[in-house]
Amino acid sequence: MPLPKAELHLHIEGTLEPELAFELARRNGVRLPFADTEALRRAYLFEDLQSFLDLYYELMGVLHTADDFHDLADAYLARAAAQGVRHAEIFFDPQAHTARGVAIGTVVEGLGRALDAAEERHGVSTRLIMCFLRDQSAESALATLESARPYLDRITGVGLDSAEVGHPPSKFREVYEAAGALGLRKVAHAGEEGPPSYIVEALDLLGVERIDHGLRCLEDSALVDRLVRERIPLTLCPLSNVRLRAIDILEEHPLPAMMDAGLLCTVNSDDPAYFGGYVGDTFHAVREALGLGEERLRELARNSFLASFLDDDEERRARLLAEVDAYDFGAEPQE
Ligand code: ADE
Ligand code: ZN
Repeated sequence: MPLPKAELHLHIEGTLEPELAFELARRNGVRLPFADTEALRRAYLFEDLQSFLDLYYELMGVLHTADDFHDLADAYLARAAAQGVRHAEIFFDPQAHTARGVAIGTVVEGLGRALDAAEERHGVSTRLIMCFLRDQSAESALATLESARPYLDRITGVGLDSAEVGHPPSKFREVYEAAGALGLRKVAHAGEEGPPSYIVEALDLLGVERIDHGLRCLEDSALVDRLVRERIPLTLCPLSNVRLRAIDILEEHPLPAMMDAGLLCTVNSDDPAYFGGYVGDTFHAVREALGLGEERLRELARNSFLASFLDDDEERRARLLAEVDAYDFGAEPQE
């Protein structure tokens, strides 16, 4: 049995495996510019965030119907559950779909159907987080929030993703204020490729409760002190950092130093179909590459539940934390 954990940084569109992409392309009469799944996999060599995003947005063109979104999410939940995920907070990018003529209601209905069944089908509790594309305008983000109003009963929070540099959090102050007024939780990608000042802006101007990535906080020791003092969780994605070349090799990932510094770190998969593994694979990879011992892995698993938006179900959080505490790594390491 794998170590129980929560996944807090996962783009559902980033779970689109080549096989499902081709199946959906066939189903919807979409032509993909790749001969087959192997040719597509060969395209997974990225220079940076933008080169990944170009392929990510192109491939999601196969997603059209509510059933497509359902099948995508159900496939992720099955894989995640097999790797010990007991709670998943799932990002989606409505603007990437509405721009192609797919209504936000279609997206939320399909994802919602898979998420509603997830606890019974896979033993995974879920939350949905709607992300604004930061390389689109602030007006577009506001219009997206407005269009989501009929579905807010199934959306827990808002996030901010896509191309970071040149699109600081300050651009989205108004929409985050409006989201807060609607009772939505707030997170944002910051310090993935962008400077530490974007992390400070996300905290001070957007009022976020967690920072997605946050890797570049290490360049500002006063910011590290603040993140430690205020117990701001970071949703780190080590395999993503290597594939998008924020870090040269996994062995050089600063995760151990960040934990030593007292930062509230979690480990997540970001876009697992593209970056070489789901969250259990990621735990395994950091264990091997960074020599993390069992107590460090247990701490990461504990942090994932502590940092989750399970505040509306403290009983479940307590139960899952107790499972982590009682977890026996045994003779044969699972992670
Ligand atoms: N969208 C999907 N994955 C992303 C990432 N790693 N950074 C920013 N936006 C994203
Ligand atoms: Zn991300």
